[in-house]
Amino acid sequence: MISITKDIDIAVKILNNEQVIGFPTETVYGLAGNIFSEKAIHSIFEIKKRPKFNPLIVHISKLEALDKIAIEIPEKAKLLAKTFWPGSLTLLLKKHHSISDLITAGKETVAVRIPNHPMALAILDAVDFPLAAPSANPFGRISPTTAQHVADFFPTEIEAVFDGGSCENGIESTIVGFEGEKVIVFRLGAISIEEIEKVVGKTEMINYNDNSPVAPGMLKKHYSPETHFIQANDVEATIQQNQNLKIGILSFSKKYQSKFVQAQEILSETGNFKEASRNLYAAMHRLDKLNLDIIISEIFPNFDLGKSINDRLRRATEK
Ligand code: TXA
Ligand code: MG
Repeated sequence: MISITKDIDIAVKILNNEQVIGFPTETVYGLAGNIFSEKAIHSIFEIKKRPKFNPLIVHISKLEALDKIAIEIPEKAKLLAKTFWPGSLTLLLKKHHSISDLITAGKETVAVRIPNHPMALAILDAVDFPLAAPSANPFGRISPTTAQHVADFFPTEIEAVFDGGSCENGIESTIVGFEGEKVIVFRLGAISIEEIEKVVGKTEMINYNDNSPVAPGMLKKHYSPETHFIQANDVEATIQQNQNLKIGILSFSKKYQSKFVQAQEILSETGNFKEASRNLYAAMHRLDKLNLDIIISEIFPNFDLGKSINDRLRRATEK
């Protein structure tokens, strides 16, 4: 049975033993293992039931460690790292030869970030290798933002999850790559595009028309509850249309007064994006447990972190 603990020595023991742990970051909880252990990396894919074409993010605790992970680092990447690390920005960089194809799914680039969470940093400092960590959810499901979410997903598959409280940012890191002078956004996330553009100027959004899973966090269906989930422009009308069903509502700041609504999650009563992202996945986890027939979500204002939240909600509605 999985244990929920804060004892870093246990983390070190498990990781040195080429096994994986659940660990907190400021975005979401990760399923972490030694990047140099083939066994640990295979376990990550197996436990998550993640397809092997989907590469992993490497987590380090210090900027100095970057030179062993990536080469030919562009100036704009350095600037972004200096500005946002430790933090919720993942950089796609040309990989160092020591990084295996297992981590990068055969790509020439490696994804890397320094997480901004004291327990993640303490665990990284206590072992002498970086940690590969995808979000600690089964493939396609809602990402975990508490240790309990991880324990619920993997009660017997992993030995321990380290309890660092509720994730401060609550959605995954923003992922950017580089092409000459261009900065390309591969995944919207916890740092808004507006913030990134203040540092490096205009960015471009990656184009996924060809369906190739360059960043499968961008797969159409992802982050999904098991309950039927839809986004609606007019939530009130949609409630009316579904009055014969058990309805749950996910809203930004508005309370829907209707006798047909069985449960309601308001992500930020004051309409604060940061608070809303922090609460998003936990609210989805809670609604998903209520045996509702349908969850109806608002469409969020489409700028700043509202854009990242809409991205996740849209993928959650895909069949
Ligand atoms: O906030 C986060 O980034 C969390 C925490 C644990 O750090 N991690 C996370 O990992 O979200 P994961 O595996 O759930 O999502 C990583 C995304 C995937 O969509 C993957 O395809 C993409 O990063 N990715 C990784 N390496 C890549 C590469 N070389 N090129 C393009 N996309 C890459
Ligand atoms: Mg994920």
